[in-house]
Amino acid sequence: MLNIDLYLGMNSPIIAPSILAADFANLQRDVEMLNESQADWIHVDIMDGVFVPNISFGLPVCAAINKHATKPLDVHLMIEKPEKYLSAFRDEGAACISVHYEACNHLHRTLQEIKALDCKAGVAINPHTNVELLEDTINDIDFVCIMSVNPGFGGQTFIENTYKKVRQLKEIITANDAATQIEIDGGVNINNAPLLMEAGADILVAGSFVFKSAEPIKTIADLKAIG
Ligand code: DX5
Ligand code: ZN
Repeated sequence: MLNIDLYLGMNSPIIAPSILAADFANLQRDVEMLNESQADWIHVDIMDGVFVPNISFGLPVCAAINKHATKPLDVHLMIEKPEKYLSAFRDEGAACISVHYEACNHLHRTLQEIKALDCKAGVAINPHTNVELLEDTINDIDFVCIMSVNPGFGGQTFIENTYKKVRQLKEIITANDAATQIEIDGGVNINNAPLLMEAGADILVAGSFVFKSAEPIKTIADLKAIG
């Protein structure tokens, strides 16, 4: 049951539709649709077939998206050794870059490198990764991307344990007086979005729910109207 007091006090979410669910044969058309919509960011999923069991696309496609986009690109690196590609993605338009906690041996250093590129620095965590592991770096993280599905594919079912993780992470952020924002990625829709906002989320990624809907611009507006 939604706590109405918290609900009324919420800010509206940052909406980041995931281009992974777009029609790749009509990428320009779909990016222009996002330009026209109330989307705040464009979420760009990079998968290497090693860190995750799927390959999406790489730098040239990111550049092609950036050529048409009027919104900041939120690049989610689901790759091994992400530190090798930070400046390349920044050069192809990334405004935000998230790396996976599970893929970084030197997370603190990697976060500083992202910031030195003038990008927002994000850390993505898989469903099995406990948010407490971020306590020592929380003041260095601009946003945490809590994966609410196992990364690798769009269109998966939202994992309900995510609400608990959002609340725990929010407590860590508050206790450390950090400005870190919380992004949710995977299976987000109009039913779970208000509950995620109530739990403490700031940024909602949505792929299938936006692109498979009859009216994506209206779907984005409906998500934006939460809070
Ligand atoms: C999953 C990706 C997500 C995905 C979300 O590995 O990181 O960003 O595109 O898609 P939906 O909203 O369809 O779950
Ligand atoms: Zn993603």
